[in-house]
Amino acid sequence: MRMGYQTMDYQGPYREDVSTLTRFALERSKQAKGTDQMTQLLISLCAAVKVISCAVRKAGIVQLYGITDPANVTDEEVKKLDVFSNELIINMLRSSSATCVLVSEENTHAIIIEPEKRGKYVVCFDPLDGASNVDCLGSIGSIFGIYRRTSTGEPSQDDALQPGRNTVASGYALYGSATVMVIAMDCGVNCFMLDPDIGEFILVNKDIQIRNRGNIYSINEGYTRDFEPAILEYLEEKKYPQDNTAPYIARYVGSMVADVHRTLVYGGIFLYPANEMSPQGKLRLLYECNPLAFIIERAGGMATTGKEPVLDIVPTEIHQKVPLILGSPEDVKEFLKIYKKHAKK
Ligand code: F6P
Repeated sequence: MRMGYQTMDYQGPYREDVSTLTRFALERSKQAKGTDQMTQLLISLCAAVKVISCAVRKAGIVQLYGITDPANVTDEEVKKLDVFSNELIINMLRSSSATCVLVSEENTHAIIIEPEKRGKYVVCFDPLDGASNVDCLGSIGSIFGIYRRTSTGEPSQDDALQPGRNTVASGYALYGSATVMVIAMDCGVNCFMLDPDIGEFILVNKDIQIRNRGNIYSINEGYTRDFEPAILEYLEEKKYPQDNTAPYIARYVGSMVADVHRTLVYGGIFLYPANEMSPQGKLRLLYECNPLAFIIERAGGMATTGKEPVLDIVPTEIHQKVPLILGSPEDVKEFLKIYKKHAKK
């Protein structure tokens, strides 16, 4: 089903065809005839997201706003909400008994789960992405990617250095005007909306497919001075199309989950390219780019660095950055055509 306004006809919690995220996870597990570890993991993440959603809504009132002392590992300001969300997700994943290695944006090193609580999954996550939007009440999100551990013996940080193609499931929670969770698995991409009255995530969009082409471009144009010529040419083409079609609309929240969710819903292209100042871009491969690239590809879109599909990159370190361009397939193909033309020069 395409997104936009074509939501399922949800009228309340009591109709028998209304599915919750919990029921969805249980049914998937039954179909996959596997262990219940993925179900436990998803249910734990879902519980963490509900708590974070509540905290986000109440943060101003209970004074969770403000900057904590240390700079986090990526040298951004750490907000109290980030710390709270990080600890919460770690605790929920640890107690799910479904994970063995966790990589968080907030922790310099991977967290190795103690033997008695170990499961088979590796989870890479950004507990609260878009933190610069917290104090102005902009949309923020949590992002996660789930992998099966492939090595044997004592688990280590290296277990997280898998290409995004190995993803078993990925997703994000968007704390916007409503809270939604979008989850991609082999079965497709599904969107669940939190009904605050009953505290359940309700399936509102099944098997989401991104539009073939959109009419929105999303990039921080404040960096124009430092963009590569290919990016400049692409943006010029979006503003002054040579075929006399209408120019694209620009939208940029500065919170990746919000920008990518809009791209999934309306189509178009999101770009965080490399630039002269940051040759690898800014976004993190393991817990930002890969999970979102997996969702966009499962929805029929594309995600690239310009040089290769994001999901094909074999990571070399857990906080690695990569350029990211993703969105509707026709938009990304058009971008790649221009990018490759410049690469040959
Ligand atoms: O990586 C954190 C993040 O806040 C993303 O959510 C967002 O896309 C990006 O940074 C915004 O960066 P900038 O302020 O450089 O546009």
